[in-house]
Amino acid sequence: MGAEIDKINVLKSTNVATTTSSTKAGISKKKISLNQLIEPVTSELQTLNENLESVVGAQNPVLMSAAKQLFGAGGKRMRPAVVFLVSRATAELAGLEDIRPQHRRLAEITEMIHTASLIHDDVLDESDIRRGKKTIHQIYGTRVAVLAGDFMFAQSSWYLANLDNLEVIKLISQVIRDFASGEIKQASSLFDCGTSLQDYLDKSYYKTASLIAASTRSAAIFSGVNASICDQMFEYGMHLGLAFQIVDDILDFTQSTEQLGKPAGSDLAKGNLTAPVLFALEQEPGLRELIDSEFTDDGSLQTAISMVYNSGGLEKARRLAKAKGELALNNLQCLPNGPVRSSLTGMIAYVLERVF
Ligand code: IPE
Ligand code: IPE
Ligand code: MG
Ligand code: MG
Repeated sequence: MGAEIDKINVLKSTNVATTTSSTKAGISKKKISLNQLIEPVTSELQTLNENLESVVGAQNPVLMSAAKQLFGAGGKRMRPAVVFLVSRATAELAGLEDIRPQHRRLAEITEMIHTASLIHDDVLDESDIRRGKKTIHQIYGTRVAVLAGDFMFAQSSWYLANLDNLEVIKLISQVIRDFASGEIKQASSLFDCGTSLQDYLDKSYYKTASLIAASTRSAAIFSGVNASICDQMFEYGMHLGLAFQIVDDILDFTQSTEQLGKPAGSDLAKGNLTAPVLFALEQEPGLRELIDSEFTDDGSLQTAISMVYNSGGLEKARRLAKAKGELALNNLQCLPNGPVRSSLTGMIAYVLERVF
C-alpha cells in the first residue's frame, strides 16, 4: 500500500497534485488539479453550491446575510466532494443507477456543519479573516456569530432528521458533539507542553476527522452496501481528515495569510500546540520555556518559530500526515476501479500535496 501512495508524487504548487501511473514505458506523470479530481461529481457540486444559501433557510435577514457572506466567500467544498465521490463509488458497487436524493442532502448537511463549525472556530480563535473575507464575528459581533453557528447546526440537524435514517442521524449528530469536544479540549490545553501526540490526534479527530468519517460512512449506508464497506469508508474519511488537519497545522507555519485566506502563524502564538510544535519539543528543550512564558517577552515567539523550523518538527509532521494518507488509501481497494476511485485516491494526494 505504501508503494501505491509513494507513486503519488506531490508538487509544491497550490491546488495541484501530481499522480503517476505505471506504463510499459515506465512511470508517467500527469498533473491533477482539484478541479480535475472533482470532475466525476462536478454537476452535483454545482447544484450544491446553488442550494447552500437557500437550505440555510433563515428568515432573519442578519442570519441570511451571515450565510451569504460565508457560502459566497467560496471554500474548497472538499467535504461534499468526498461525500459525492464515495456516494458514486458505493452506489456503483450496490448496482444503483445513480446516487440517491439522500446522498445529495447528506453532502449539503456536511458543508453546513463544516461552515457552522468555522463560524464558531473563528470566534474561539479570534480570527478576523476566513476564505479571504471578514469573519462573521468581525462584521456582526460575537453574539450574532454564535447564534448564526447555532442556527446552522440546528438547521443541519433538521435536514438530517428528515433523511429518516436512524443510523445516519446517530452518526452525524455525534459529529456536532465531537466538534464541541475537540474545541473544548483545545481551549483547555493552550500552552500546555504536557500535551502528547495522542492528545493532539484525539483532538484533531474530534474537531475535523469525525465529520469527514461520519459523512463518508453515511454515504455508504445510503448506497446500501455491506457493513465491511461502510467500515472502510469510515476509515478512509477518518484518516483523510486527520491528514487534512495535520497539513492545515503545518500550513499555519509555512504559508502566508494571503495564500490561506485566513490568519497564518496564529496557532503557536495562541498556544495551540500542533504536531510540528510537539515534535519540536522533543528536540529543543528551550522551546518549553518559551511556551511556558506565553511569549510575553519581545521576540520570543519568533525564536520559538525558528526552533520549530530548525528542529525538524515540520518534516516529522509531514511524515505523520503521509502515514495517515497511506492508512486512508488502504481502504479504497474495496471500491470498483475507475475514475471515481482514482479521484478518491487523488484526494489524498491533494491533501498531502499542500506540504510535500
Ligand atoms: C478549514 O477547512 C478547517 C479545518 C478543518 C482545518 P477547509 O480548509 O476545508 O476550509 P474551506 O471550506 O476550504 O474554507
Ligand atoms: C479546525 O481547526 C477547526 C474546525 C474544524 C472548524 P483550525 O482552527 O486549525 O481551523 P482553521 O485553521 O481556523 O481553518
Ligand atoms: Mg481556527
Ligand atoms: Mg488551522
